Amino acid sequence: MINVYADPRELCLAAAELFTSQALTAISKRGDFRVALSGGSTPRQLYEELAKPFWRDRINWEKVLIFWGDERHVPAGDALSNQNMTRKALLDHIPIPAGNIFPIPFAESADAAARQYETTLHKLFPDLPVFDLVLLGLGEDGHTASLFPGNKVLKEQTRWVCSARPLSGGPERVTLTYPVINQAASICFLVTGSNKAGIVRQIMEGNGSAVSYPAQKISPVNGQLTWLLDQAAAACLESPK
Ligand code: 6PG
Repeated sequence: MINVYADPRELCLAAAELFTSQALTAISKRGDFRVALSGGSTPRQLYEELAKPFWRDRINWEKVLIFWGDERHVPAGDALSNQNMTRKALLDHIPIPAGNIFPIPFAESADAAARQYETTLHKLFPDLPVFDLVLLGLGEDGHTASLFPGNKVLKEQTRWVCSARPLSGGPERVTLTYPVINQAASICFLVTGSNKAGIVRQIMEGNGSAVSYPAQKISPVNGQLTWLLDQAAAACLESPK
């Protein structure tokens, strides 16, 4: 499903509604809501929105378990840390028990951090984790989470969490792998801005072309895939729905 919104603000409100309704459904059906969060600028706006009383007070945060889809391998308080961003935007402002938050750790190496996070997930989930919701962004190079073009993690079938080095430089990353992400009940991309219009078109219309982008292999096994785009990001689609 592709939904296009007038601007990032409209998209943010739609994402807050989706997050809240999926949280309420999972909590009423199974007793908790397991969500894997993304970094990036659009998610940050969503997290700030969810911290407002209108949304915050609709969710029983004691029943929400917070995970991350990926992380830069930096200390928790670093300005580049997704955990740090999420705490400032959302987690510091909601009544969520500390024990419900499962950040990707900082360890002696990105690979060690990936293994530690995998151990954490194995303790919580005997089988492949089924997240109720995985939030994702899209990079201009077609990456999502920290699944970068050409990286060997794209072929990973066994590990749940791996380290990955972005081609563009910057800190090494730790990322959930396709087998885990694609097991989710719901996967939602949040994409805004005209700089994403070209890659959005290639991802949506590029099936069958020689080039494939990491985001194209996001395909839930049993779940639902939703793209929330603003008009700028959808501008090159032939018939935005
Ligand atoms: C991260 C994610 C990355 C991100 C995209 C889009 O930054 O933590 O790894 O996949 O979601 O790069 O980011 P923007 O929404 O900021 O453009």
